[in-house]
Amino acid sequence: MSIKAVHLSKSFGEPAIKVLHDLSFEIQAGDFVALTGRSGSGKSTLLYLLGALDFPTSGHVEMGGHDLSAVSERELHRIRNQNVGFVFQFHYLLPELSALENVLTPVRKAVDFGVDVSSFETRGRELLVRFGLEGKEGRLPRHLSGGEQQRVAIARALVMKPKYLFADEPTGALDSANGEVVIRLFEETNSVDGTTVIMVTHDTGFAARARRQIRLVDGRIAEDIVNSAPSGV
Ligand SMILES: Nc1ncnc2c1ncn2[C@@H]1O[C@H](COP(=O)(O)OP(=O)(O)OP(=O)(O)O)[C@@H](O)[C@H]1O
Ligand SMILES: [Mg+2]
Repeated sequence: MSIKAVHLSKSFGEPAIKVLHDLSFEIQAGDFVALTGRSGSGKSTLLYLLGALDFPTSGHVEMGGHDLSAVSERELHRIRNQNVGFVFQFHYLLPELSALENVLTPVRKAVDFGVDVSSFETRGRELLVRFGLEGKEGRLPRHLSGGEQQRVAIARALVMKPKYLFADEPTGALDSANGEVVIRLFEETNSVDGTTVIMVTHDTGFAARARRQIRLVDGRIAEDIVNSAPSGV
């Protein structure tokens, strides 16, 4: 269940400005990858292509051997719902839903795909407990701290047991203690559940804890290294 980028390019605007230049690489199932680079280097753009949130201008992404540009719209929705979890810098929780209801939104959607969701409902509750939110399941996001809100967002990303967890600067809006908690949750989901983690980060300490670091400069891979002794996992 690897993810493969095949001659990926992405341009925006008219006239087109090329943001990613012919990237080809493979991420193995179970890996923990940190995507780094300066602001504007193309990290988020690449992450969204790899995670099936956007499409390349040319080239394609293969997820578990399936060319994402060749699957039907419905299949793409199913992949996003069941195989992919996304966490962003800001949590994007729905303000009118409780913590638990937010976590269960992907589960509600999975019903449309004919999935038997009872075990995922249980998992949603368990994740909140595991993430230190026991007793706060019924709270609205605005009655949770920033770190708690981000943990709810991570539980929502993980509730369907996705094969891949994508994160775009997940610790960017948190203090160092809460950032550490988030990275630990990622390390745990990677080592315990075997989830492949692909994380954009500006934090060199967190990047050093991944197994592999890919650094972008102006939409090209400037460095692709395997960390010799990842301290986290
Ligand atoms: N939807 C869009 N329309 C036009 N240009 C875009 C769009 N999305 C990104 N870009 C441009 O593509 C380039 C790469 O953007 P991207 O968001 O991938 O960078 P980044 O490495 O994630 O930066 P940051 O660290 O600031 O988040 C930037 O020059 C940006 O302005
Ligand atoms: Mg970005």
